[in-house]
This record gives sequence, structure tokens and C-alpha cells, in this order.
Amino acid sequence: MFWRSIKNSLRRVFPVLSGCVVLLLAGCVSSGVETAVQEGEGLLLKDIYKDFFPIGAAVAAGETGFDSFQSYPKRILGEFNSLTAENAMKPSVLQPTRGRFAWKYADRIVQYAEDNNMKVRGHTLVWHNQTPQWMFLGKGTQEERKAFARKEMKAYISAVVGRYSGRIYCWDVVNEALSEGGWYRVESPWYQAYGDQSYIQDAFDFARQADPDCRLFYNDYNLVYPHKREMVIEMIEELDLKSHGLTGVGIQAHWNLTWPTIEEIEKTIDLFYSHGLEVQITELDINCYDWSDENAVLPYSEVEQALADRYRAIFDCFRRNSHKLSGVTFWGVADDHTWLDHFYGGAWHEKVRKNYPLLFGISQEKKKSYHAITRFQKGKKFHKE
Ligand code: GLA
Repeated sequence: MFWRSIKNSLRRVFPVLSGCVVLLLAGCVSSGVETAVQEGEGLLLKDIYKDFFPIGAAVAAGETGFDSFQSYPKRILGEFNSLTAENAMKPSVLQPTRGRFAWKYADRIVQYAEDNNMKVRGHTLVWHNQTPQWMFLGKGTQEERKAFARKEMKAYISAVVGRYSGRIYCWDVVNEALSEGGWYRVESPWYQAYGDQSYIQDAFDFARQADPDCRLFYNDYNLVYPHKREMVIEMIEELDLKSHGLTGVGIQAHWNLTWPTIEEIEKTIDLFYSHGLEVQITELDINCYDWSDENAVLPYSEVEQALADRYRAIFDCFRRNSHKLSGVTFWGVADDHTWLDHFYGGAWHEKVRKNYPLLFGISQEKKKSYHAITRFQKGKKFHKE
């Protein structure tokens, strides 16, 4: 009798109870999985990622008109704990005329970083772009032209790396020395002046001499393509770059909504890491258009969700691989200032084609993408090895 009444009552309450359990579980799943330590708790990006890697942004100090320190409040810049000069540390800005350095803008960036407890990534010393022609004015035989360029390179790197020694923790020593499909970028004025790729070894030697402790990087784009990342490894081995001071590889990461796949990103990080190299993501932004689609113009509302999903997937991947990554830098701070507004269809344009590649919007508001990378499963550990 007693048991029957218990059984009956259980039978009656079971559907209700089981319903409650289902509801409770559903609640846990929907709110629990995406619950994170995040800005609601007063945390900034750099705090949320402190166990993973430093988070950087490229900034301008007025050298091309735009001034990140005037445009963005400390509240936004303070989300990052590393700065890169978007242009202020390129040779054309630092030494536009021979023998006359213009330190003003670079100094401002380094000073701001120091005042605000941030690291500085130096970018970039030896590149085929934004480098003054006078560095290559040597005449005569190949040997003579090489000697001229070599002397200029040494003077330049010694001055720049030496000035910021101990204040800039890593440099992109050589940028984009490899061509798309083939081998070395032979049209680079450095390659032309030297007559071969040995300028890359010199660049690392001079940087190492100027700062024995700095981390020295080779930086390039499209490294997610197997043939190009393999080329980087071949170059490092062929030129024995580690013995010339190289410590790491920078993956630029100018990507878009569908390219590259997460699998290729992971393979790229793995390849460099497995060769004993430090790996950084150095110029991350997500183009909201296809590279070829130069006429498309979209309102932000149409790409907002896809962009957030893409950022979520990419940062899930970065966190999974955080023991292999020593930094992630965005190529800009907010969508009001991005090179992608002017670079489309493979060329620079005066006319703006609005793009939305970053975490903060044109009014500097936090975008869905920001929330997508700050809300991840709490307690899930991807610790450094
Ligand atoms: C390359 C360079 C950067 C920057 C971007 C686009 O990735 O490394 O310095 O010039 O192109 O602006």
C-alpha cells in the first residue's frame, strides 16, 4: 500500500520533475557554454587573454595625418597590452632623407607604451615597400652597389634598433622577402642591390649586433598557403637564419570571412612551432569582402554576424594553440581607420570602399566580434606547455 502510493505519486510528479531537469540542463547548456570572464566583469581584452598571449594593435602617431592617441580614448587603447607602429617605424618615415632621422612619431608610440605598461613590436626594418630610394643609389658594378646598400642598411639598423634597444622587445627585421608563387622576391630593391638573397642574413646580423636580447622576426603574408610557408622554412634553413639571430616568424593574417580555413591556420602555426620558432600573429584583420570583389559595397549590418562567427572560430583556434603563440596583433584599433577602406581589387584607391575588419566599430563601439572573442567557456584550460 505504502509503496503503491509512493509509486503513484512518483508517476504523477515524474513528468514534472523530468521536465524541470530538462529545463535546468537546457539552461546550463545555453548560458553555461558561452559564459565567460568578460567585459561585464570590468575586464579588458588584455585581461581576458592574459593567460593566453599579449594582444596588440597597430597605431598611428600623426605621421600620415591620423593620430590614434588623439582619436581613441585610453579606455579603448587600454584594451591592448602591445603596440605596433602602423607606419611610424618604416624607413620612409624614420629616415626620409639620408642622414636625417625623424624620430618624433616612433618616439611617441614607444613613450605611450611605456607610460601605459605596454610592449612594443618594432615593424619593420628591411622591406621592398616604404623604403627611400637613396638607400639604393650606389653605382658601378654589382659589388659596388651591394657595398653601398649594405653600408646604408647597417647604418640604418644600428641607429634604429640601437635607439630602442631594451624598449622594443621584438622587431620584424625582414618583411615579405618571398614572392607569391616562386622563391625570393627578386624585384625587391634590396635583392637588386645585393644581386642575391644574402641581404636577409645581413639584416638579421645587424639587428642582432644592435640589440643582443631583442626577438627577431621574419614577417610575411599568405603563409597559410602550404607552398609559401614551406618556402619560409626553406629560406630559414638555406640561409641558416637562426645563426644570424632570427628567433621567430610573424604571420600577418590579412584574412577574410571565408579564407583561410581554420585547419590551414592551425597547420601554419604548427609548422613554424615545430621548427623551434617563436610564432606571432602580427597584422590580423578580417576583410568583409572577397579580394577580387572590388565593386561590392555592403552595410555593416549585413556582415556583422558572419564577422563575429569568423572571429569566434579564429580565436578558439588561437586559444587552443596559445602555447605555440607569443602574441596576436590587430592591424588597427577601430573600423574608422583601416587600410582596407582604400586597398581593394589588388590596388590602393583614393575612394573609400567601407570595410569593417576590426573589433571596434566606426563610432568606436564594441562590435559583436568583440563579444564573440571575449565570451568563451569559463574554466576550459588551454595552458602553456
Ligand atoms: C603589409 C605591411 C604592413 C602594412 C600592410 C597594409 O602587411 O607589413 O606594414 O603596410 O601591408 O597596410
